[in-house]
Amino acid sequence: MSLFAINNIIHLKECSSTNDYLISLNKKSNCKEGTVVSTDFQTKGRGQRNNVWYSQKNSNLIFSFIIQPSLPISYQFFLNIFTSLSIYHVLKTILGENIRIKWPNDLLYSKDKIAGILVENIISGKKIQKSIIGIGINVNQKEFPLENATSIINVLSQRYKREDLLIFVFKELEKHYNLLINKKFNLLYTNYLSVLYNINKKVFFLKKGKKYNGIIKGINNFGSLKIEVNKKIKLFSHGEIKLLKK
Ligand code: BTN
Repeated sequence: MSLFAINNIIHLKECSSTNDYLISLNKKSNCKEGTVVSTDFQTKGRGQRNNVWYSQKNSNLIFSFIIQPSLPISYQFFLNIFTSLSIYHVLKTILGENIRIKWPNDLLYSKDKIAGILVENIISGKKIQKSIIGIGINVNQKEFPLENATSIINVLSQRYKREDLLIFVFKELEKHYNLLINKKFNLLYTNYLSVLYNINKKVFFLKKGKKYNGIIKGINNFGSLKIEVNKKIKLFSHGEIKLLKK
């Protein structure tokens, strides 16, 4: 059976945030795995680290879905891995080889952000009971308030139909979700590392306001970033450091 079914998609003209909508819908009526909420406009779109996710009206792909992966909490980073790999494959097919995943789960075209992912887990005991995953892909928006952002239209110089893109994304999510529930952790991990932005390259990062540099060496199983600093491998969680552009 497919994860996503047409009758499980709720499309809203506008909402505060599709993640928030799905979280409260799930509280009220216990959503089925594969329930999707998509919208044309979010008034309070959220990004990682309490950032705002701004997306022009009627221009981009904005949606969230709910899954019930039955994973121990220690595997929660694999939710970020399977999702970012899915979006990576979609964008690579459309835009070519310049797509990379920037740790933990940003999608870049060259150095510019083209999609973002927000994973929010409902934990019960030591298990992930449900996970709400929100995805924003810049599709037909040409101008951005922030530097270093781009979209499919800016790369291809032509519009892309959001409905077609959603179907494509569902296909890849389904494929990679099957790898996850079939416990193909090694494969997901290796595939993620093979497309990680700046792997084995020197990067600058901020930790507690201080600037450091080091070489990205990969991630551990919990999703912490491995950076070689002064010839020693150090682990950093998301939230602990901010990778800088230079
Ligand atoms: C990030 O890059 O910081 C994550 C951005 C995630 C944005 C998506 S858009 C759909 C869903 N609803 C939200 O409020 N955020 C996510």
